[in-house]
Amino acid sequence: MGILDFPIVKKFIRTCDDGWKQGWHERNGGNLTYRLKEEEAAQLRPFFDMQPRPWVPMGVTGANLAGEFFIATGSGKFFRNVDPDPEDSLCIVEINGAGDSYRIVWGLVNGGRPTSEFPTHFMNHSVRAAATDGATRVIYHAHTPNLIAMTYVLPLTDRDFSRALWKSATECPVVFPGGVGVVPWMVPGGADIALATCEKMKTFEAAVWAQHGLFVSGPDFDITFGLMHTIEKAAQIWILQKSTGLPELQTITDDGLRAIARDFGVTLREEFLD
Ligand code: 13P
Ligand code: ZN
Repeated sequence: MGILDFPIVKKFIRTCDDGWKQGWHERNGGNLTYRLKEEEAAQLRPFFDMQPRPWVPMGVTGANLAGEFFIATGSGKFFRNVDPDPEDSLCIVEINGAGDSYRIVWGLVNGGRPTSEFPTHFMNHSVRAAATDGATRVIYHAHTPNLIAMTYVLPLTDRDFSRALWKSATECPVVFPGGVGVVPWMVPGGADIALATCEKMKTFEAAVWAQHGLFVSGPDFDITFGLMHTIEKAAQIWILQKSTGLPELQTITDDGLRAIARDFGVTLREEFLD
């Protein structure tokens, strides 16, 4: 049995491939990280390199994730190539005892480093792990075209985006009752966008990056991919509806949203309702 035969590694690769097939990952667009469970890290450890690569400071600190291991996509690597060549495209990194540096212990066999958004992923793992009592394990960023299009024409507020997306399809408030946070346009890949996204992810499971894409978190690959998929599909419906050029004659009312929340046993963010 090789490292690529372990179910968690297979699921990581499949999620990358699913995202590629959705059209969310042109070239090297997007990135994915998974925080390994202790028993998973123990199973994969025999396959790690004899000599780990040097420690690299991240510019951010997440003390609650000291000593953890992550599977990550590589910076500049194409999601399209993950399934055919995972060893070239992916890596496993270990976090140091201070929670401020990583080192590569497996993968990226032709060189490279984890995604340029690793500081953002790492800080958001830290925040979401704290917010969910350790349940959050997956952080996923994709370049979702319809949601990006929305960020040119809708005010960049959490409330405006959450309401528009909830009302785009009846199941939306059930899938993301907490709504979405919105981060204004920022330079990608640095500590600033990491900290701005963290502020949103303290209370949201998903953060829109204006003119860039979407950042989502969840406990496993199915739920996290499903959240990305549901939000992007809602955005697609919104764009399709606006593209008709016809006046909107009816929509889901705020009382309709409240009724969905009541019947499905979810709590909507009340300050977003009229
Ligand atoms: P990476 O190739 O470094 O993961 O960057 C892609 C991206 O989408 C940046 O936001
Ligand atoms: Zn991106």
